[in-house]
Amino acid sequence: MNASAPGKMILFGEHAVVYGRPALAVPVKQVHADVEILDSNSTGIWIHAPGIRLHSELNALPSDHPIASVIHNFLFLARASLGEGRFPNINLTINSTIPVASGLGSGAAVTVALVRALSSHLNYPMSEEDINAFAYDIEKIYHGAPSGIDNTVVTYAKPVYFVKGQPIETFKVGTPFTIVIGGTGISAPTRESVADVRKLWEADRAKWEGVFDAVGKIADEARMRIETGEPALSKVEGWRLLGGLMNQNHERLQEMTVSSPELDLLVEAARKAGAAGAKLSGGGRGGNMIALVERENADDVSSALISAGAKNTIITQVA
Ligand code: MEV
Repeated sequence: MNASAPGKMILFGEHAVVYGRPALAVPVKQVHADVEILDSNSTGIWIHAPGIRLHSELNALPSDHPIASVIHNFLFLARASLGEGRFPNINLTINSTIPVASGLGSGAAVTVALVRALSSHLNYPMSEEDINAFAYDIEKIYHGAPSGIDNTVVTYAKPVYFVKGQPIETFKVGTPFTIVIGGTGISAPTRESVADVRKLWEADRAKWEGVFDAVGKIADEARMRIETGEPALSKVEGWRLLGGLMNQNHERLQEMTVSSPELDLLVEAARKAGAAGAKLSGGGRGGNMIALVERENADDVSSALISAGAKNTIITQVA
């Protein structure tokens, strides 16, 4: 049984989304987590994840190991159907092209692909909603107080207008547009930046509620512009306006102290190379930034990012 889940990027609204404001996120299908499960003759659940040099039987891993904990939680959930104490003998291989702790949702994607593969292989049917709820529970163990946006986009693999605690709402992309993602190569746990923003908020709630409101308005305006298809109108005001919203969102994230000199440098380099706008994407402090570009200018912006120190870039169409 094979299963897969894509990476994700947040276009607008990260961090404020933890406080109930809307955010826009889309799948990034160029990067994905893939899981293959085969029956095996050896006893136990053997896990192979060549990318992190992991080859181990499940019970030889600490129970709080992220991969082990997904499998333990799944087995616990499905225990009645699988039969108490009777564990399957399987070989499970995990490959992911999503850089870890980069803001592209690698943890959520591995969880979703793993649970999807386990549920099919072991005949324990789970709906997309069940898988999403399961992945959210796992995110809560490893990311402190996540909004749930990462697992939602990764599970449904669709553009999502996300409001914490609300039913999933997808949004339309009027006309496809191009984003260049630039990676700082710095791994930055979301848990820490989320916790730091919380400290700021606790110290001055009125101020930060105002900042989060402003970010929520940016996300709403961006949705309207994306749905009407303006980004495709190269050089036209609408496209510049969407880029401008990215720039405004980045400023707010700087205020929240979740940008970094490396991210700011890449954001600046993308704008100089002709991007309509650019911002950090995801938890910040490291990880990725994104730039809205014209399709024919994507390679130039990508080269400018590499020259400015990006460790890798991905050119992707939002459609
Ligand atoms: C992380 O991809 C997005 C954050 O808003 C955290 C969250 O929503 O859980 C920074």
